[in-house]
Amino acid sequence: MQFIDLAAQYQRIAPQVQEKMDEVLNTGRYIMGPVVTDLEQRLADYVGKKYCISCSNGTDGLILPLLAMDIHEGDAVFVPDFTFFASAESVCAVGATPVFVDILPDSYNMDPAHLIKMIEKTKAEGKLTPKAIIPVDLFGLPADYAAIEKIAKDYDLKVLEDGAQGFGGTQNGKKACSFGDVSSTSFFPAKPLGCYGDGGAMFTDSEELRDLLISLRVHGSNPADKYDNIRIGRNCRLDALQAAVLHCKLDIFDDEVEKRHIAAAEYNKRLSNYVATPVLGEGFTSSYAQYTIRLESEAQRTQVMAAMKEAGVPTMVYYPRPMHGQTAFAGMANAADYPVAEAACKQVMSLPMHPYLTTEIIDKVCAELLKALGK
Ligand SMILES: Cc1ncc(COP(=O)(O)O)c(C=O)c1O
Repeated sequence: MQFIDLAAQYQRIAPQVQEKMDEVLNTGRYIMGPVVTDLEQRLADYVGKKYCISCSNGTDGLILPLLAMDIHEGDAVFVPDFTFFASAESVCAVGATPVFVDILPDSYNMDPAHLIKMIEKTKAEGKLTPKAIIPVDLFGLPADYAAIEKIAKDYDLKVLEDGAQGFGGTQNGKKACSFGDVSSTSFFPAKPLGCYGDGGAMFTDSEELRDLLISLRVHGSNPADKYDNIRIGRNCRLDALQAAVLHCKLDIFDDEVEKRHIAAAEYNKRLSNYVATPVLGEGFTSSYAQYTIRLESEAQRTQVMAAMKEAGVPTMVYYPRPMHGQTAFAGMANAADYPVAEAACKQVMSLPMHPYLTTEIIDKVCAELLKALGK
């Protein structure tokens, strides 16, 4: 049994992928080019933003907007304490300081009330200037942008949506990656929309940010003069072959998200009487990058995971360590500020999730889980 079955997806679209890749191979344009530009337009339309700027991966997709918004040393950027390392690492990459924010116990996303508390605390300490918030759409579920965008407005902060896991999720009908001043996603193969290598994209309605991101993506280039570089940038382009793959995957993306919803509903039906299953607030949908349940304790999780492994069912822990517990961030935050993230790290566990789960697989996963729980 696969935790994520990418091979099943490839079998579905293999002829289309090969044809589109051949198209790229025959043009001889392997970096950027029309296949990439067309994809950017399709992605912008899909998300509902004016501009999409593709890039090399989701991490660069966070770093470039931070550079474009001139966030630098001495600035504070608020990041959830429970996320993948890159959400906070990107802040350090531009010389600024991540200030961690605790999460909500049900959605696992940034807690707006704790965000206000940490902004006030940072202001009171007076060492850093609050500049931006990076909410993360964890496990496919958008953060609470209705609340977070209001807080950003009140404190005059920028919002950079980390939609690396969120692509395909919605809040009040608005798609993930359409929130904030600018957003970013990752096309890492295991993501809801993944390519066959590294890839990413940024989205914005701001023409000014778009121009900066395009320039920063290619060595701070001057759009009017290829050999004039007007700022220090990076090399963060998307390969044309990855764009070819993404075209084919985008064709079936809505259907795949629907299949993920069906799989999640099947899991919920079988499990919600026994473990804490994912909670989607009113007005939210998830693209289920992960289907994450919560157990009673770390000891119970260890025992259940071992039993399921023994039975041939793969499970994963996203994430066993909060940001404040990362060695690279040692001494940067006080663990007592993050009780909800600490508890989540000890209790969460993700089950196999992908669009090609069959009823038989779901039955097997649930049967082994319930057996391990003694139910
Ligand atoms: C929440 C989050 N942010 C950022 C990233 C970084 O994306 P990439 O691996 O494409 O650099 C990831 C990837 O796992 C992620 O899950």
